[in-house]
Amino acid sequence: MSAFQLQPLQMGSLRVEWPVFLAPMAGYTDGAFRSLCLEQGCGAVVTEMVSSQGLMRNRTRTARVLERWGDEHPLGAQLYGSDAGVMAAAADWIAGQGVFDFLDINAGCPMPKIRNRGDGAGLMRQPAKMAEITRQVVAAVAGRLPVTLKTRLGWNADTINVLETTAGVEAAGAAAIFLHGRVAAVRHSGPSNWDLIAEVKRTRKVPVIGNGGVKTAADVFRMVAETGVDGVMIGRVTLGNPWLFRDIRDRAAGREPRLPDVDEVRAMIHQHLRRALDLMARRGAKELKLGAELTACLVMRPHLVRYLRGFKGFGELARTLEERVDAATLLGRVDAVLATGRKG
Ligand SMILES: Cc1cc2nc3c(=O)[nH]c(=O)nc-3n(C[C@H](O)[C@H](O)[C@H](O)COP(=O)(O)O)c2cc1C
Repeated sequence: MSAFQLQPLQMGSLRVEWPVFLAPMAGYTDGAFRSLCLEQGCGAVVTEMVSSQGLMRNRTRTARVLERWGDEHPLGAQLYGSDAGVMAAAADWIAGQGVFDFLDINAGCPMPKIRNRGDGAGLMRQPAKMAEITRQVVAAVAGRLPVTLKTRLGWNADTINVLETTAGVEAAGAAAIFLHGRVAAVRHSGPSNWDLIAEVKRTRKVPVIGNGGVKTAADVFRMVAETGVDGVMIGRVTLGNPWLFRDIRDRAAGREPRLPDVDEVRAMIHQHLRRALDLMARRGAKELKLGAELTACLVMRPHLVRYLRGFKGFGELARTLEERVDAATLLGRVDAVLATGRKG
């Protein structure tokens, strides 16, 4: 096997041929972005996290988070919450949709409004509850969806308990574990501890997918070599750069890595906005105060920053990004930035 190969991954009944996952990122990884990443060679994607309480109380609105742009596969739905019964009921509803390939439990979100309710990273402080939620969710979707769980090393540097928490969820029937090698207290900053990811991998029987600190295609293969993980999940560095997934495939196939040329960047931005528009156009006027087009342009803003910040004319665009403009105007501005060429 070449240094740049990856083996297919079995998560319960689901086989993931190419175990390179796009990490769930609330506010970014909607169906528009996920579908573009899959087309560039990403091996599997996960929705932004969705509230189990919201799905049970205010389904129409909350379920928007789970919308797909196209027929994305393999696709996981990520659920958060800390009431086992509500989590199980929401999981049952998700499985009933018949469009998802796995169900992931969020046990790592460090945002105060989530963790302080005991959801997300809050579950790491209650290992028995984390295991019980996993057990009930697994039972609720048994025979329909494999259940995975995404977590971190611990609450803070003094309370690292990932060996305990992952043992609990493995025993409760989780089919795989996504492990972000940071503690909740640092959120997303600082190094990701690959040594601990390696230790968890050595200790668990179920597949472990490593996350955190991947910046380049080479890092994917380095993480596998150094930690022995069964797959890799990549977050922030893919924003504005879905071509990273192509780069990973190219390296594995022994092809020369290619930087996207300006035409490819333009085509990607146009497609991304098109898909964001498609998603918004499905919503009713009552739901979107600004209307579908302006809302889609707003959703595109943080992506545009990442697609274009390497271009000389980006500063000019950045000054106008707060303005509410229609798609044609926005794309006109994008073209003007692209025409200035890349920095350095
Ligand atoms: C803006 C943003 C939103 C995120 N939203 C989620 C989420 O909804 N669910 C989740 O499990 N993790 C979420 N994460 C964490 C990522 O999935 C990932 O674990 C983290 O960014 C570390 O990976 P990276 O170093 O490759 O970015 C989010 C991260 C960011 C930066």
